[in-house]
Amino acid sequence: MNSFGFTGPDSEPVFFEQDTPIASGKDLLIKIDAIAINPVDIKIKAGLTPPLKSPRIVGWDACGTVIATGDDVELFQVGDNVFYAGDVTRPGCYASHQLVDERIVAKAPKSLTPAEASVMPLCSITAWEALFSRLKINAELEAGKNILIIGGAGGVGSIAIQLAKVVAKMNVITTASRAESEQWCRKLGADHVINHHSDMVLQYRTLGLKDPDYILCLNDTDQHFDAMAELIAPQGMICTIVGSKEKHDLDCLKSKSAGLVWEFMFTRPMFNTDDLIAQHQVLQRIADLLDEGKLVTTLTETVGPMTADNITKAHHQIGLGTTIGKLALTAIM
Ligand SMILES: NC(=O)c1ccc[n+]([C@@H]2O[C@H](COP(=O)([O-])OP(=O)(O)OC[C@H]3O[C@@H](n4cnc5c(N)ncnc54)[C@H](OP(=O)(O)O)[C@@H]3O)[C@@H](O)[C@H]2O)c1
Repeated sequence: MNSFGFTGPDSEPVFFEQDTPIASGKDLLIKIDAIAINPVDIKIKAGLTPPLKSPRIVGWDACGTVIATGDDVELFQVGDNVFYAGDVTRPGCYASHQLVDERIVAKAPKSLTPAEASVMPLCSITAWEALFSRLKINAELEAGKNILIIGGAGGVGSIAIQLAKVVAKMNVITTASRAESEQWCRKLGADHVINHHSDMVLQYRTLGLKDPDYILCLNDTDQHFDAMAELIAPQGMICTIVGSKEKHDLDCLKSKSAGLVWEFMFTRPMFNTDDLIAQHQVLQRIADLLDEGKLVTTLTETVGPMTADNITKAHHQIGLGTTIGKLALTAIM
């Protein structure tokens, strides 16, 4: 198999060949057709400490075809077209082939191209788990409640807005700082857009809405912590997916009996939790909603085939922190 890996924090993508792995147990061997780039790829690369035994293959968002199955595989067959995020503790998808546990894979949406499908898994699992597992939003009961989604135009925000609107029928207030990112959020269904680089409390209150029952923070927890604590409704819940560098005073949530919870989409595979298969189920639901036309792909650019230059170009764009939607690369030539 062919791969691109990194040898340290400043490494360019290194092309290398190795034996194609053999699928065993619950693993599927997948031939990759397209991948998406995520900020985690850059974060893992930045944390590498050389010397490494072999270049680290990053990337956890892909669409491809099953070409072999382990003896314990029950859900898939050779030839199935699948999409998945994978497990950050295992080699990633900047490669021609990859092994992935079937319990975190689903059949790809039939109506999308591989690039359109490849951008969905990591961000959809994150958004779904944040909304429905961590914030415990009950899709049947909470129509019309207010949710503030901070960072609406990025990869996670672009699917979180859609899920909050389509599945939970909530009133979605999101944030964007530029005309084009605001327009994108509105196109995906946001009811109101405020600017995360200006006073969010003032802007939110100017809308004349009840304070948000839920807040989902998808960017810079440190910057937004005080505004979230101020805005969250009594008995409300905040979920953040971005680690903080500063210490924050949780006591400010006490008088409101408000809560704060983390979402990390790799928790289930990383700890091999008993409910690992929940990620297969979430992804299959996402595929169905995409095929039914209720959700749309968040792909905004296919950078080109997986080459060192295109990986570097995509990493540069993601590193700017201004990406709208998602970037994909097609298979290694
Ligand atoms: N915990 C998890 O499981 C998990 C999963 C996925 C991602 N993440 C993390 O979540 C973050 C977002 O991921 P992503 O893929 O959505 O990133 P992304 O696509 O790179 O996000 C880009 C968007 O961020 C917005 N943005 C920039 N600065 C902001 C700020 N200070 N406050 C609010 N929004 C801001 C920009 O909007 P404007 O251009 O309008 O300013 C831009 O559209 C990353 O740190 C990523 O590593 C965590």
